[in-house]
Amino acid sequence: MDGITQIYILWIIYLIASVLFVVGLKMLSGPETARNGNLVAALGMGLAIIGTIFIHPGKEASAMKLGLIFGGIAIGTVVGWLTAKRVQMTKMPELVSMFNGMGGACAALISLIEYPHYADSPKRVLLTITLGLLIGSISFSGSIIAYLKLNGTLNKPYRLPSYNIVNAVLVLITIALIIAILFVPALNTYPVIFGLLALSLLYGVLFVLPIGGADMPVVISLLNSFTGVAAAFGGFLYNNQVMLTGGILVGSAGTLLTIVMCKAMNRPLFNVIFGAFGGGTAAVDTSTTGGSVKDISTTDLATLMFYSKRVVIVPGYGLAVAQAQQIIRELETILEENGVEVKYAIHPVAGRMPGHMNVLLAESNVPYEKLVEMDDINPEFPTTDVVFVVGANDVVNPAAKTNPASPIYGMPILDVEQAHHIIVNKRSMNAGYAGIDNELFYNPKTSMLFGDAKKALTDLVNELKTM
Ligand code: TAP
Repeated sequence: MDGITQIYILWIIYLIASVLFVVGLKMLSGPETARNGNLVAALGMGLAIIGTIFIHPGKEASAMKLGLIFGGIAIGTVVGWLTAKRVQMTKMPELVSMFNGMGGACAALISLIEYPHYADSPKRVLLTITLGLLIGSISFSGSIIAYLKLNGTLNKPYRLPSYNIVNAVLVLITIALIIAILFVPALNTYPVIFGLLALSLLYGVLFVLPIGGADMPVVISLLNSFTGVAAAFGGFLYNNQVMLTGGILVGSAGTLLTIVMCKAMNRPLFNVIFGAFGGGTAAVDTSTTGGSVKDISTTDLATLMFYSKRVVIVPGYGLAVAQAQQIIRELETILEENGVEVKYAIHPVAGRMPGHMNVLLAESNVPYEKLVEMDDINPEFPTTDVVFVVGANDVVNPAAKTNPASPIYGMPILDVEQAHHIIVNKRSMNAGYAGIDNELFYNPKTSMLFGDAKKALTDLVNELKTM
């Protein structure tokens, strides 16, 4: 096969792969199609890799190089497969940040390795290399810090004095370094490139370190878009269309998700990055709430629900921890069999990752139409007999609306306090992710059902079966 034919075949493969990426991404937007969407996009990536290795015109890959490539692919596949298979649903954000960090590292390594081959190239090529290095390294070190924060190793926001100024100065120095590499031939050297690498890695660490609490998912999504952009620079460098398309898709999807999450939390991105959230705690003013908490027995709750017309379940992170998705589905079924209308209120950041509650409840085959988004369910609370909050806390905290001193002030929440009865199931009076008290628990309409969600729901279902 001559070189021209090879190029055409490769272009067609890249075109098919790009279309598969786009279709896969589109399918990810609905729970019914998401699983297959993932496979479609993976097929696209497989095609792109095989095409690049075997049909790339020009250089023939030596047996040694092929061995290294396939050795790397085999190790990556086994490690990635096993980790993804074993990971618990609640640990997914950690896995995502780790995988994202690896993407950033790959983009940075491409720049590092290719630099000597392109050092004398035109400025635009050098710019591509340096920006790939900068953004890939920030994404790598930032994602590793995000990973350590999510798994609890770094469990509080660390803030240097005047960290915003330190970070701004660091950004300016890295930009100056890139300009120097481009315009001062004496500085267009490997040691300066390594200096850029070190500063970018440091910036990634300092950028994520002060951020905590509920802003972490936004940061991970932002880093994800960085990785996409860094990969796109690799696509420019190699003039590889599919790498460019993949990078742009990841970059733009990550950016869109970041914007959507910022909207859901009502926090401008600027505040997320420079405002450092989640460190403070805002105690509840119990003088206005009466300060007492009352609990409810399983029997009384079963009776209350049995005679209700409408029940809205608010699932949260605790439901996922307790793995109570099957039993909550059983509760829904038994109530519906007795003429009670049941819906689930889904807050966009309930749990620990975007779509966490949808995925969790899909596992127990809850019909999708029963999962109602926040904006649609909020007007229904005043006509709801019982709101049953299971393992949720921050997403129903009225301080987000009433307490300007609260770190979650401004985040849209589920207006559960408007329902006739509020029942909250959790194990204790402990705080949720943002580390703050919740005045909802002291509301005269609220009763607490203390205990692990799985056990509490099992007892409740057994009680309902006797009625
Ligand atoms: P949280 O505010 O974290 O509250 C979860 C509650 O579940 C805790 O107060 C805990 O209280 C209870 N719990 C834990 N284990 C339990 C069990 N086995 N049985 C019953 N209850 C249990 O959760 P949320 O309301 O879903 O809000 C999510 C928070 O995480 C928000 O602040 C959000 O911004 C943040 N976040 C979200 C994401 C995304 S994208 N979804 C990612 C990272 C962070 P006890 O200890 O007393 O049981």
